[in-house]
Amino acid sequence: MRVQALSVNPVDAKSTEGKGIYGRIKDQQPLILGWDVAGTVEAVGAEVTTLQLGDEVFGMINFPGHARAYAEYVAAPATHLVRKPATTSPADAAAATLAALTAWQALVTQANVQAGQRVLVHAAAGGVGHYAVQLAKHLGAYVIGTASATKRDFVLSLGADEVIDYQQQAFEHAIAPVDVVLDSVAGETQLRSLDVLKPGGTLVSILGLTPDTPARAEQRQVQARAMLVDSNEPGMQQVADLLASGALRSHVSLTVPFAELPQALDQILTGRTQGKVVVTL
Ligand SMILES: NC(=O)c1ccc[n+]([C@@H]2O[C@H](COP(=O)([O-])OP(=O)(O)OC[C@H]3O[C@@H](n4cnc5c(N)ncnc54)[C@H](OP(=O)(O)O)[C@@H]3O)[C@@H](O)[C@H]2O)c1
Repeated sequence: MRVQALSVNPVDAKSTEGKGIYGRIKDQQPLILGWDVAGTVEAVGAEVTTLQLGDEVFGMINFPGHARAYAEYVAAPATHLVRKPATTSPADAAAATLAALTAWQALVTQANVQAGQRVLVHAAAGGVGHYAVQLAKHLGAYVIGTASATKRDFVLSLGADEVIDYQQQAFEHAIAPVDVVLDSVAGETQLRSLDVLKPGGTLVSILGLTPDTPARAEQRQVQARAMLVDSNEPGMQQVADLLASGALRSHVSLTVPFAELPQALDQILTGRTQGKVVVTL
């Protein structure tokens, strides 16, 4: 595919520092980061039946493998790409890939969120969080997000029912028990999150479980599981459908041209990003 836009994630920045998924791809030189793309199909393999030349597509390619998507042209398994809704810009589509798919796989595949349940989304203003709030609302949940004060209105605009300023309040004392927690902070936040779960509730962490979590989860009679988003797991077509229906929107807070890609990584490294950061080609 010819790439029109790509998005940048914390895992990109972590991988440049030898963390993230660097260990999985370090032997495949030359290393080129990037997984999230939107663009146009330029060629298809002989057995591809789902895509045609000229299709506008987007997706998260080959994660957690080596996608080499910081590029003008990218090769991808056809199953990792879906058609871009006509009403979604390439930038908004490129944004709604790894982060949106993570939200889907955490809330739907892992936690099986049901209408009427109460869901706590940490880092609700960030890349994953801002899709997770919208998705949980779409699923019919009552949604509580954590964010700092300046991002409160943004998180409310996504549909959150409550926003807790985690810098001013201990969220575990501020909210009633919940059925599901989406944890993207880990550490103490993860441990304290176990205390706000109803018995039988589920915490899904996208940062791995902290050492004390399994024992505390057992003691509290709740489930705690870690997940890694996967290009081969379901969700990408549903993300496309939700973008098309307007139930899911990308909020891109910074767009830079390809030549300024390091600026996009610098923004991600602040840890304070609102919504997504996109690079256009
Ligand atoms: N396992 C997986 O499959 C998977 C997938 C995607 C992402 N991740 C990981 O999950 C993390 C989040 O990813 P992301 O793309 O959402 O990152 P991001 O967009 O960089 O997240 C930035 C947001 O985090 C908020 N934040 C920071 N510390 C917080 C805290 N203690 N409590 C609440 N909010 C806090 C910030 O809000 P304030 O400025 O208001 O603090 C900011 O809006 C990253 O570490 C990433 O690597 C894992």
